[in-house]
Amino acid sequence: MGRSTSVVILAAGKGTRMRSATPKVLQPLCGRPMLGWVLDQALALDPVRIVVVIGHGSEKVEAYTREHVGDRSRVEFAVQEPQRGTGHAVQCALPGLGDDADTAVVLYGDMPLLRPESLELLLSQHADAGPRAMAIMVGEFEDPTAYGRIVRAEDGSVQETVEERDCSEEQRWITEVNLGIYAFDMGLLHENIGKLQDDNAQGELYLTDMLGLSVQAGLPAIAVEIDDVGEGQGVNTLAQLAEVRWDLQARIHEMHMANGVRIEDPLTTYIDHGVTIGAGTLIQPCCVIRGGVTIGEGCEVGPFAHLRTGVVLENASVLGNFCEAKNSTLGEGSKAKHLTYLGNAIVGKKANIGAGTVFANYDGKHKHETQVGDGAFIGSGTVIVAPNTIPAGSTTGAGAVVTSSADIQPGEVWAGLPARRLRGADKKPSTD
Ligand code: UD1
Ligand code: CA
Repeated sequence: MGRSTSVVILAAGKGTRMRSATPKVLQPLCGRPMLGWVLDQALALDPVRIVVVIGHGSEKVEAYTREHVGDRSRVEFAVQEPQRGTGHAVQCALPGLGDDADTAVVLYGDMPLLRPESLELLLSQHADAGPRAMAIMVGEFEDPTAYGRIVRAEDGSVQETVEERDCSEEQRWITEVNLGIYAFDMGLLHENIGKLQDDNAQGELYLTDMLGLSVQAGLPAIAVEIDDVGEGQGVNTLAQLAEVRWDLQARIHEMHMANGVRIEDPLTTYIDHGVTIGAGTLIQPCCVIRGGVTIGEGCEVGPFAHLRTGVVLENASVLGNFCEAKNSTLGEGSKAKHLTYLGNAIVGKKANIGAGTVFANYDGKHKHETQVGDGAFIGSGTVIVAPNTIPAGSTTGAGAVVTSSADIQPGEVWAGLPARRLRGADKKPSTD
């Protein structure tokens, strides 16, 4: 289309109904703050600038935004204090927004489900509507309660949006609602945003009144119908946060399955945003896989496995039932099949970690690392006190407690409590 776009994200609201000390837009959603999803919607438009409108003291929102966007777009922040409505919020954003883009898109920070395709639809119809146009995204809701209603003239053209609290008896029956997603010609936005009035039930400046202003001036104002109204779900409560979490989880699962990952039971599988999984890997039921985890090809995970941050499973490795791993690597072809805790464990290739093995990584003050060499065989119920090294081809007997002072050489067998050398390095390492 050749048009340039800047994006305003409204995120100054307190989120009172969440009953949480965390700002609403920073509530966690599939392994990252809700705002991450909204910033991605903005970034998909390759914007000239992103302006985030924040409430007083939202240093955390600012810090997260800077970290997330990095150098992918210019970012500005506008503090809105006090908060006098969505129109007022956009007024506060104007200095940061500038006028170096043709089009301004306004998004609300509590709508994480919106897809980039829907924004593209909004922008292409906005571009087709002619010069000095505005476009507003709408949808049909079975229950339109709390949403602004779309009022149309007899010829079907949109006239205005009316907030629920300002609706007449009759208007309350309208099921076509404003989703809170807009595209404005930049010049039009700068010209009209100062004309908003607060003569409404809430005494606020409503961004939605921009529609009426355009219609009165005879400028093109269009309503763009979203394909899937589910994308318009706003998050005002923890219950709604849980609802949208499920939708985002389903999208994450679809993405992995399209990549050839077998997820046996999506309903009981939790995979955060930002997880890499190779083709041919099987994720069995009841697993929790946190952001940043990397799983190779042909692996087997679960059932009932918990993969926390910093975990790498190399190709063809197995992390089986009732295992937890954190900041650990399981090398190619290695197996920890039952009841194991891998904490700060760097395991080489084709090692076998027996049932009930615990990497005791924490001494009460610090976490320490343990290295396990290729082909090592860790007997069932072994406790390895970190820091430690279990070299290639060595073996620990069932129930061994390997203290940090153990000095195991490659191929040796150690057993007991505390573990002592049982046999020298004559034995061939078992790798199965
Ligand atoms: C708004 C729309 C309504 C629409 C609905 C869709 C207006 C007047 N109403 O209502 O037509 O159907 O969204 O979800 O726009 N915010 C600020 N500063 C403010 C007020 C709000 O930054 O002064 C931010 C909030 O943090 C939030 C967004 O704007 O992210 C929307 O505000 P909210 O109060 O939730 O608007 P709704 O009443 O839901
Ligand atoms: Ca809302």
